[in-house]
Amino acid sequence: MTTTEPRSFARPIDRTDIELTLKRPDKAEQEEGVSMTVYAPKGMTDWAGEKGVIPAQNYVSEDFAKREAEHLWKKVWQMACREEEIPKVGDYYTYDIVDQSIIVIRTAPDEIKAFHNACPHRGRTLTEGCGHAARLFCKYHGWNWKIDGTDAKVVDRHEWAPEDLTDESLNLAPVKVGRWSGWVYINMDPDSVSLEEHLAPAKAYLDPFDIGGMRYHWRKSTIMDCNWKVILEAFNEGYHVQTTHNQMLRYMDDWTQSYAQPHDLNKSNVPPALPP
Ligand code: FES
Ligand SMILES: [Fe+2]
Repeated sequence: MTTTEPRSFARPIDRTDIELTLKRPDKAEQEEGVSMTVYAPKGMTDWAGEKGVIPAQNYVSEDFAKREAEHLWKKVWQMACREEEIPKVGDYYTYDIVDQSIIVIRTAPDEIKAFHNACPHRGRTLTEGCGHAARLFCKYHGWNWKIDGTDAKVVDRHEWAPEDLTDESLNLAPVKVGRWSGWVYINMDPDSVSLEEHLAPAKAYLDPFDIGGMRYHWRKSTIMDCNWKVILEAFNEGYHVQTTHNQMLRYMDDWTQSYAQPHDLNKSNVPPALPP
């Protein structure tokens, strides 16, 4: 089939995790006239719209945000915290995303686990923010757990029929943890690909920078009155540098493309800063 109009396809992916990726067409697709292939989360293949132009609805629709919560945030690897934020055994960090909350806790000097932040009894959250715990404790009826998520105490357990409270049903529900360069990642999907597979090929480019040996000096968080993609996209492109951050032009050329990207996918990376 031939066509003069460039076309893009939104296709479901076979992987169980999420990959919002623009891919150059392979040879067969080029012959078909496809200019770009877009892989989208399962159940969201309409996100790319016609010809790869992302519909404005994706930024303002409440329904679309609900679908992201289901198909994206519950399935993708996410940075939860830095390892140095939970340096001691028992230190925890509560990671919240949309309507989900995850406890990330150091359970041994070199072991970090994560659990859904929900009491198996009535679903009350167990932690908020960060802190240190000898046990995880529910403030509603007083059930508690060892820091590895296994049941430690059910108040008046003898009053329950034993078959109603199996040890397994009392443990906190685990969440997958991955670690790279000092970052602690979580993934709520037990069938997701490994973190290593998810990070490839970016990991290979970033490992030489020894990000694990770096420490932040300050950071700022804020809540913006806009869809999360608006912010993310601003931080992913360097096209605005010449206008918004033109003081940086003293240190870098006005490039918006990194030649370090062999796949030619990212046209918006700023090059490394050069001496003035
Ligand atoms: S809700 Fe947690 S102990 Fe009852
Ligand atoms: Fe910026």
